[in-house]
Amino acid sequence: MSRVRTVFRCSECGAEAPKWTGWCSACGATGTLGEELVGSAGTGRRGAVALAPPSVPIPIAEAVGEATEPVPTGDDELDRVLGGGLVPGSVTVLGGEPGVGKSTLLLQALASIAAGTAAGPATCLYVTAEESARQVALRAERLRVTSPSLWLVAETSLPHVIAHLDALAPDVVVVDSIQTVHDPDLGSAPGSVGQVRGCAQRLVAEAKGRGVSIVLVGHVTKEGGLAGPRVLEHLVDTVLAFEGERHHALRMLRAVKHRFGSTHELGLFEMGEDGLEGVPDPSALFLADRQAGVPGSVVAPVLDGQRPLLVEVQALVVPSNAPSPRRTAQGVDGGRLAQVLAVLDRHAELDLSRAEVHVAVAGGVRVVEPGADLAMALAVASSATGRAVPAQLVTCGEIGLGGELRQVHRTERRLAEAARLGFQRAVVPRSAPDAPGGMRLVRAASIADAIDHHAFGPAAA
Ligand code: TYD
Ligand code: MG
Repeated sequence: MSRVRTVFRCSECGAEAPKWTGWCSACGATGTLGEELVGSAGTGRRGAVALAPPSVPIPIAEAVGEATEPVPTGDDELDRVLGGGLVPGSVTVLGGEPGVGKSTLLLQALASIAAGTAAGPATCLYVTAEESARQVALRAERLRVTSPSLWLVAETSLPHVIAHLDALAPDVVVVDSIQTVHDPDLGSAPGSVGQVRGCAQRLVAEAKGRGVSIVLVGHVTKEGGLAGPRVLEHLVDTVLAFEGERHHALRMLRAVKHRFGSTHELGLFEMGEDGLEGVPDPSALFLADRQAGVPGSVVAPVLDGQRPLLVEVQALVVPSNAPSPRRTAQGVDGGRLAQVLAVLDRHAELDLSRAEVHVAVAGGVRVVEPGADLAMALAVASSATGRAVPAQLVTCGEIGLGGELRQVHRTERRLAEAARLGFQRAVVPRSAPDAPGGMRLVRAASIADAIDHHAFGPAAA
């Protein structure tokens, strides 16, 4: 028995409401409820429950280790983030803003898988639901993708996509994008939250049933969430976020959710003329154009996930007569900068009330952890006083509101990365662990101590 009914669904979180209200009672968003028809013939909830065959219990020992081995894609950065590769039967969402390079990344990955990695050659299918086959072919030409076992089809209808899975029996499938495929069996309109969720649900079932790895492209809203259905994140095994500054070539790939491994790995790429290229040594890249030994420049080993990166924190302090002089923060959090400036004022007697302060991290990197506090403070102090920090010095540490320096996690790993790149001195909080070989530590108790005695003085040189 089937029944079509009208519900109102939140375009933010996917929650269902029986009648229209101005806000969503589940997530609190306003003006996000839209009308939707659900439960057409044969696809109503009851129907689906009645049709599904019962599962058979098995001893857990038999289930352990069963088909969860990842298969490498052959792209080192992607494999690093995935913890080895794509797991057969899994569904991954690749989210990112338009133009960041999602289609490019996945076309390259499929080409690499199809050409054969350590796991042997594989059949891959690229379903383009957004661009024409011709547009994808042009990109493939640019990327010099010619593998005969990589198939391309322009398709927006989900039943047709599933028919292609039957016909081709691929090992890995990309659907670009989940927001542009639709299932006519579902009552709701193409592009609606109900469609996106319904299509993803069917594809998850297909992936599990066939043991095929499916990667879905998902558009991301300005706020950073997957457009519309946050529920998509609960349906799939892995959610990857692909990010980058519009005017930089650097692209960062992170796992936001990963059922088969850690979410702490960072993948780095550069978008070039011939597609995306992995960046195996990001620290060297970020420091390549640095002018060492000039005021306002300090190098900090920061951590993104598990990956230590050496970044250059720059500050520019210039006098200003404005009643509230400008502060800009690029690549660091504006709130964090304000806090560091307040601490400098109170605890290091650095009066910046009549100065503009600009702080930036070079190279399009975004530092979101407190390990760069000390570098920010020293860069500001350096620019304000015109004294340079020695070229071979790095610094890492968090600054407390009392001006005290606190150790940040994995300091050894950060310092080891700095030592690898030839840095010989580090200003660190007092409690920091011992230095790796070839590096001398200068321990400071407070920000005032670091500025007055260690960062610029003879001890640091
Ligand atoms: P695309 O993969 O289409 O992004 P998305 O699928 O996330 O919308 O890539 C978009 C941008 O990348 C586009 O502006 C062109 C640029 N690009 C390059 O710079 N080099 C290349 O080799 C390719 C294929 C694209
Ligand atoms: Mg695209």
